[in-house]
Amino acid sequence: MAHSYIKGLGAYVPDGVLSNADLEKIVETSDKWITTRSGIKTRHISDENTPSSELATEAAKIALDNAGMEASELDLVLLGTVCPDMLFPSTACLVAHKLGTDGIPAFDFSAGCTGFIYGLAIADSFIKSGFYKNILVIGVEELSKLMNWNDRGTCVLFGDGAGAAIVSPTDDSKKGILDWTLSANGFYGDFIRMPAGGSMLPASKKTVRENLHTVFMKGNEVFKLAIRLMTDAGKTVLERSGVSPQEVAWLVPHQANIRIMEAVASRLGIPKERVVITIDKYGNTSAASIPMAMYDARDRFSQGDYILLVAFGSGFTWGSVLLRW
Ligand code: UT7
Repeated sequence: MAHSYIKGLGAYVPDGVLSNADLEKIVETSDKWITTRSGIKTRHISDENTPSSELATEAAKIALDNAGMEASELDLVLLGTVCPDMLFPSTACLVAHKLGTDGIPAFDFSAGCTGFIYGLAIADSFIKSGFYKNILVIGVEELSKLMNWNDRGTCVLFGDGAGAAIVSPTDDSKKGILDWTLSANGFYGDFIRMPAGGSMLPASKKTVRENLHTVFMKGNEVFKLAIRLMTDAGKTVLERSGVSPQEVAWLVPHQANIRIMEAVASRLGIPKERVVITIDKYGNTSAASIPMAMYDARDRFSQGDYILLVAFGSGFTWGSVLLRW
């Protein structure tokens, strides 16, 4: 049975940068509060003419280049997002078209910030089954477009960006994706949500007036669950694979909050020097955060390194991937 590995990585952020000082002019907040409570200093923000598919396509082109491949060699496009260009058609179809790969299958999935982990697991399964060979997995978000800019509890946390990976088969069973776990529990569905715009609350003057097309989050509740669930997911794949925390070269957690990442690393027994952190530059970019962080850290990864990815997000969803570089 074929194994899968990450053959190429790419990331892309829009040019616009919003600093904590800029946010001080928008809501009652301070650079000190944002930095100490979340670890964020800046985030990138898309302009009104640049939808998620644009960021995703740019990240995908970089990943293809990094893998030394042409778009015509792709067999499948998978895209995790909660910020699609439109409710339908899927953003994956739009990206595939922009890449010039019309005809191959392409679909979106909504797994919140766990999107990239879900995408890698789907890609790994398709490769193991022998159905597809070269799979483009994208995480992309433009959460700036779903913010209530009067809600200081959310608008300071999120940013825009895209990350992409080319996942391909390998005969070397010691390399690439070794194990993964996925979970979900809709009981926590109201912890992070955008209530309106779907079939439950279609767009109306009332939904716009009440800001229901924006992100609502129970920050404290999410904080505690995130630490427990990401730690559990990380432990599951390490134990199943017989890899000890000491052997993990890099932990790449979903970039939601520096305090969450430090708590997860400490509970897993992984020193903070081995945790990839990009939240200071990009804020929380949801499904894009892990591939963006991996792209950022790619020159620090060495052949044979065990790399542990852990994430949680709206749904609730959570999961992890253990891979060997
Ligand atoms: O990717 C998944 C998405 N979400 C997350 O991962 C978020 C998880 N949660 C968190 O990261 C944290 O809970 C937050 C960063 C959202 C909040 O940090 P906290 O330490 O849990 O703060 P808090 O909500 O307990 O608020 C403490 C105080 C409150 O004031 P009072 O009631 O103590 O007077 C808030 O009103 O901080 C206030 N506050 C702010 N102050 C300045 C909340 N937001 C801000 C702000 N600036 N932006």
